[in-house]
Amino acid sequence: MIVLGIETSCDETAVALVRGREVLSNAVASQHDLHAEFGGVVPEIASRAHAERILPMLRQALDGHVLASIDAIAVAHRPGLIGSLVVGVSAAKALAWSLGVPLVGVDHVRAHLLAPMLVNPGEHAKDPGFPAIGLVVSGGHTSVYEMRSPSELTRLGATIDDAIGEAFDKVASILGIPHPGGPNLEKIARAGDENAFDFPISLLARGSLDFSFSGLKTAVLYEAKGRPAPRPIPGKPPRQAPPPPTMTDQRRADIAASFQRAAIRAITKKIARAIEHHPRSRSLVVGGGVSANLPLRAALERLAKRHRIDLRLASPAYCGDNAAMIAGLGAELLASHAAQDLGLHLEAVPTTSA
Ligand code: KG4
Ligand code: ZN
Repeated sequence: MIVLGIETSCDETAVALVRGREVLSNAVASQHDLHAEFGGVVPEIASRAHAERILPMLRQALDGHVLASIDAIAVAHRPGLIGSLVVGVSAAKALAWSLGVPLVGVDHVRAHLLAPMLVNPGEHAKDPGFPAIGLVVSGGHTSVYEMRSPSELTRLGATIDDAIGEAFDKVASILGIPHPGGPNLEKIARAGDENAFDFPISLLARGSLDFSFSGLKTAVLYEAKGRPAPRPIPGKPPRQAPPPPTMTDQRRADIAASFQRAAIRAITKKIARAIEHHPRSRSLVVGGGVSANLPLRAALERLAKRHRIDLRLASPAYCGDNAAMIAGLGAELLASHAAQDLGLHLEAVPTTSA
């Protein structure tokens, strides 16, 4: 069964074809250049760019394949920027209706956990063992799941404030590192000392599998820009906090590296806890844009080795937003009869179901 996937939830316009877990084509147009001058994604610019790029991406993904060979359409219909989701959902409805094939709505966050199971044409796909621990580390989500199969999950924990990718992006902005913040911060951090600053890691309540990155982000802000003035004492002259040291390239790299180490430790500590709470877990499945981060990948490899659990990381092409993971999850939902074909009634929804 060949499934055509469409992804337009944020700032990537993507179309892909998959057969089961096999990626036949994967077209992605990133909008990073359009949003760089604003330091983040501007929703109106994003949806306009999706409208311009969806057909060129469709043509690119179809390269050599005929529309008639497509058995179903899968589209990321949640979560995301509503104006952006609507572009993908409308294109998917038009295609499904004109081809007379089923239309499956896919949750983008869940699809990130299918990404590690995708393979190139001709490669053998071996799914991870289940039950598994699933970890999504992206710009909008930081969540841990118990996975009973590629499509059946229960959320065990999630961030209570910023997502890890959002923390990378905000810290990059504090440090004057250009958009896209996460990957650029990783590069700058290579020249830094990760032990230069001892930034805090929020573990929250005992046993909690939730995450929190806002305290870490504030600690970085104070280190880079200075602390607020101490509260005035009645009858005493107002006190000033000492100004922060001048920002140099080395200091920027040291702060970036120390932040990255703390953010990674926040993840590995919680995943170690999740594995301990769920000792029957056979594998650890990881997806989302931040899973492209090499120090995070290395830390997860060490963790998996220590806990003797099979680690499945998405290959770099499938860590960030792409349509192959959407088509892959769509194919899985159809194969397991878990998908409902809502046809033209499928709606774009800003929130996740996961
Ligand atoms: O999964 P994704 O492409 O989009 C969402 O679903 O949010 O994730 C994007 C996030 C951004 O915050 C980006 O800065 C971060 O992933 N990211 C990274 C790296 N590559 C992308 N963060 C740290 N290191 C990276 N190498
Ligand atoms: Zn994503």
